[in-house]
Amino acid sequence: MIFRMLYQPFYDPAKSYEENFQNGPFGVFVDKQVLENNSQKTFDFLGFKINSPFGIPAGPLINGNFVKGALDKGFDIVTYKTVRSSKYPCHPWPNVLSVKIDGDLTMEKAGGKLVADKNYHEPLSITNSFGVPSSDPEFWQKDLSDAVKYAREGQLVVGAFQGTKREGQSVEDYINDYRVTAKLLKETGVKVMEVNLSCPNEGTNNLLCYDTERSVIVAKAIKEVIGEIPLIIKIGYFKDEEVLKDFVKKIGNIVQGISVINTIAAEVVDENGNQALPGEGRLRSGVCGHAIKWAGLEMVGRLKKLRKEFNYNFQIIGVGGVTTVDDFFEYRKAGADIVMSATGAMWNPYLARDVKEKL
Ligand SMILES: Cc1cc2nc3c(=O)[nH]c(=O)nc-3n(C[C@H](O)[C@H](O)[C@H](O)COP(=O)(O)O)c2cc1C
Repeated sequence: MIFRMLYQPFYDPAKSYEENFQNGPFGVFVDKQVLENNSQKTFDFLGFKINSPFGIPAGPLINGNFVKGALDKGFDIVTYKTVRSSKYPCHPWPNVLSVKIDGDLTMEKAGGKLVADKNYHEPLSITNSFGVPSSDPEFWQKDLSDAVKYAREGQLVVGAFQGTKREGQSVEDYINDYRVTAKLLKETGVKVMEVNLSCPNEGTNNLLCYDTERSVIVAKAIKEVIGEIPLIIKIGYFKDEEVLKDFVKKIGNIVQGISVINTIAAEVVDENGNQALPGEGRLRSGVCGHAIKWAGLEMVGRLKKLRKEFNYNFQIIGVGGVTTVDDFFEYRKAGADIVMSATGAMWNPYLARDVKEKL
């Protein structure tokens, strides 16, 4: 691996989520310099012509200003951070920490403890813990709508969302929350939507995507509301091949894209062994960046095989540990139609430019 200088991150982990929301993005995302698309090449994605099969997944682009910064810097498929049907609070600061991992975060290592600090370095692996906050729809509908219009030719803004569990709610209420949010999102004019099925504690079996039956009900309910708008599902790492096979068989002909992977959870402690992120339920936290690349690549390969086996045609969006241009090509080789980077892009706002130079 070639080590390079990390840029100032466009989302600043040293600041609170609210401060980032009000004053961000930071670094080169606000230098007003637009990196125009000089390539003659175009790529197809879900019926749209795009300049490059590279972008940023749901997460670090927390509002329209962040999305616009990413579009200016040539990220061609950018995702507005997951929204909900009503305002939802963010976990207390800190929300991002560097984690020390020797090599890959294997499933075995994810069963142990990881030490976190504020020293960011390559190879870049971090933990992020926000709890999927959301502004109220009144704000995000207008904000996202503006961002959708800001995209230049060959660029696409994806609207990500998820349902919200509330106390005393029935299963039907919960499913209905996806319908309501999908309808609100459709009103923004967004051309592609992504539903997050990989957020902890939303399914009956830890992640919603590990509950095939309910995932199918949710996907069908959303498609009834959004009609022809392409739907991507965002899923986590599946340990069991039979479970993944059954999941893909039952959902792969309902949705138009599958995005893999979300973070891998592990216990995160400080150098004294104490819980690193304050508050209940935050000892285990999602890890992303370089250490999970192996898992994203593996899932892309498994999805490609299953897509062929079932003769489906969903797009595969490869996510996880893409921090260099070589990582992008590794994902494409593994079978990703589209590649996205969250952690890597945060510390290298020029990653899209670098990828496009070699494309
Ligand atoms: C700061 C940050 C916030 C994130 N928030 C979300 C989110 O709101 N919804 C979601 O589906 N994934 C979220 N993610 C997960 C990413 O989309 C991605 O799946 C994961 O980070 C792995 O990619 P990476 O290794 O390039 O970071 C977030 C990631 C980061 C770094």
